[in-house]
Amino acid sequence: MTVKIQDLDDVEMLKANDPGGMMEALWNLPEQCEEALAIGRRVKIPADYGSVSNIVVTGLGGSAIGGDFLRLLAGDRTDVPVIVNRDYVLPKFVNNRTLLFAVSYSGNTEETLSAYSQAREKGTKIVALTNGGKLRDMAERDGVPVIIVPAGISPRAATGYLLVPALAVLESLGLIGDLSAEMADMTAVLRKQREQFKPETGTANNPAKQAARRFFGKIPVIWAAAGNTEVVATRWKGQINENAKAPAYWNVFPELNHNEIVGFEVPVEMLRQLEIVILRDEHDHPRVQKRMEISKDIIKDTVSGVTEVWSSGGGHLSRLFSLTYMGDWVSVYLAALSGIDPTPVKKIDYLKNKLAEG
Ligand code: F6R
Repeated sequence: MTVKIQDLDDVEMLKANDPGGMMEALWNLPEQCEEALAIGRRVKIPADYGSVSNIVVTGLGGSAIGGDFLRLLAGDRTDVPVIVNRDYVLPKFVNNRTLLFAVSYSGNTEETLSAYSQAREKGTKIVALTNGGKLRDMAERDGVPVIIVPAGISPRAATGYLLVPALAVLESLGLIGDLSAEMADMTAVLRKQREQFKPETGTANNPAKQAARRFFGKIPVIWAAAGNTEVVATRWKGQINENAKAPAYWNVFPELNHNEIVGFEVPVEMLRQLEIVILRDEHDHPRVQKRMEISKDIIKDTVSGVTEVWSSGGGHLSRLFSLTYMGDWVSVYLAALSGIDPTPVKKIDYLKNKLAEG
């Protein structure tokens, strides 16, 4: 396919290219997070849900990424371990001392429904987080607490709805502290960022458009810090895949220093097509920060370029969302550069339909 490069400062083109309203959904993320907090705080959760030995978030794709955020955020503030399950089958340790969030925006993802049914058999303490579908029906039938979030956007644009209510449940169970101050800081950071990232801000002053131009025609490889910003690397990759319909790959420090870093010698021409993105945060472990600097030097002459993106904001939630938000906007501008509509995910739909044939 020959692609004509579009002008990212042509706002009319950007809007015409986005009939599904992905940019509008991105713009509304701070309001979505505020609404999601209110939704999560309204739900009545049985008090015994607080005495658990572990927390599992089960979901896929856009509904699982909230689980990755939850795992990192909970890691800073509760002794209870959190894992994310992206499969039909739950790990054996899941039992009646597990708090399980079954998350599916559509409510019809078969892997999540399968995991939900297993959790019911194990007597697990379940909370369903969905817009509706079979998950809502099953949870209501079973008397399981169900958090209903608004419809109308893609699951990957609903990260606020698919994360924040689960955080609010942990808050109401006393498993994590009051979220109010951190949420206020995070939404303030996003409101500031969106002025920079919005379509009306020209490329000269818009870091998201600038990054999209650098990534265009290249394969982004996104590197982050394990246990701190890891989820954001996954998210950037997923957003580039689904919005820009392009490949992207990710890895984390320090692990990548023990294997991936060696693989930058051949094939020379293909390595020139890689754009390395390093997600940076002042709270990264000092040794990881040093590793990032050394790694940059090792690869800089073999790849197309290295883009570093720094987090902003005070708390961990703000810093993670600030990096995430930049990647979200980059992915829609990358889609626009090729004249691709960011919203449809025809290959996912095709797979789901084929599987439904039995
Ligand atoms: C994201 C997306 C997918 C879905 C995934 C699971 O926008 O379209 O990654 O999130 O296929 O579907 P749900 O979220 O409905 O359970």
